[in-house]
Amino acid sequence: MSADARYAPNASLSEAIEVARAAYVAANPLSRELHEKASRSLPGGNTRTVLFYGPFPLRFAGADGCHLTDVDGHGYVDFLAEYTAGMYGHSHPAIRKAIERALDFGVNIGGHTELEIELAEAVTARFRSIESVRFTNSGTEGNLMALALARAFTKRSKVMVFTGGYHGGVLYFRKGGSPVNAPFPVLVARYNDIDDVRNLAAANASDLAAIIVEPMFGSTGCIPATPEFLAGLRRIADETGALLIFDEVMTSRLAPGGLQSVIGVKPDLTTLGKYVGGGMSFGAFGGRADVMSLFDPQRPDSLPHAGTFNNNTLTMCAGLAGLTEAATPEAVTALNQRGDILRGRLNAIAEAAGATMQFTGIGSMMAVHFKTGPIRDEAEADSGNQDLKELFFFDLLDRGVYMARRGMIVLSLAQDEAAFARLEGAVEDFVRLRRRFLV
Ligand SMILES: Cc1ncc(COP(=O)(O)O)c(C=O)c1O
Repeated sequence: MSADARYAPNASLSEAIEVARAAYVAANPLSRELHEKASRSLPGGNTRTVLFYGPFPLRFAGADGCHLTDVDGHGYVDFLAEYTAGMYGHSHPAIRKAIERALDFGVNIGGHTELEIELAEAVTARFRSIESVRFTNSGTEGNLMALALARAFTKRSKVMVFTGGYHGGVLYFRKGGSPVNAPFPVLVARYNDIDDVRNLAAANASDLAAIIVEPMFGSTGCIPATPEFLAGLRRIADETGALLIFDEVMTSRLAPGGLQSVIGVKPDLTTLGKYVGGGMSFGAFGGRADVMSLFDPQRPDSLPHAGTFNNNTLTMCAGLAGLTEAATPEAVTALNQRGDILRGRLNAIAEAAGATMQFTGIGSMMAVHFKTGPIRDEAEADSGNQDLKELFFFDLLDRGVYMARRGMIVLSLAQDEAAFARLEGAVEDFVRLRRRFLV
């Protein structure tokens, strides 16, 4: 398709989206064919909802460093970075070596090994509020276990969550909740609104087991919690006797000791996932030793915590190498500094054009929003133009930039300045060629 047809000056936004979609369909016949094939054995051709977008998603043939290739032969710079788990890119030598170490060691050992001690020591050394840790297979499972633990420890039932919060497929609080959520009795408060939290907590004080919060909303558009809000949660948890849980499944990548180390608020429990497992299946929950000791199997009142793959050797080795050889404290600090600079440059492009567009986030995680003004919670994020996100997504794909359809952009250690330049160039083109939808 010619650029003239794609960027026809008189098209409405919905027409422009239609044209971009049609160009996408025409450029990706093999992805389409495989989508039809996939749909015969997988509902909607999909086994992970977040990866789906219409008319059909790209299907990838391979990856190297920060580059992806789809089955139709197009190359992309990967700015989705596996929703933050892809910290290391696709072929980091330290991770490869670690996986070989695991294969040499043996998989499916079915017993304790020294490997889980190594990873546990690396995690507790790195995330200072985590005195003691347990491994799971996903962030979702880490959060389920942390909430169940808080309820058992406090002998209370309710958990406070935030509208727009995401803690896994069964702990999803966009618009307040989801029909497949785990049946915890939840109190849903507004993010960054400490008065709302105080009122809800006061009305439920004697039965409040936990407050669980992402220190920055990840999937709901990279919206940081204010330090005052997080400090307020700490106070309210202390006053009511509830445990404060920081879900740092995503935000742990924003500073060597997690976002909590920058904000200076110490949670009782923290959950981890994503890159901390070196890019393998991973989750963890940990924190105060007195709370975690409920899982000590030698205690007569110990709580069970099962999981066939909790100490699988691939994750243990890859996680250790990830934390100690690749995502070292220095590398994490440098990546987040680069991210802050990049986000500043993208916002400068939008501002110079007077575009109703901004990039929120911290360090290596950011999200595009098509509105100006503050974005402090789900409602303010949703008040931006959502249709423009689709156009942005397809236009960036057309420029060889792969990102999350919902507007999230994530950095990895594999991205060099050329990768950043590709993203900046694509955003510049979008602002220039789509200006009339943005002013
Ligand atoms: C903040 C947060 N918590 C938990 C999860 C769930 O992790 P997993 O997908 O490993 O179950 C995610 C996943 O994106 C997340 O962003």
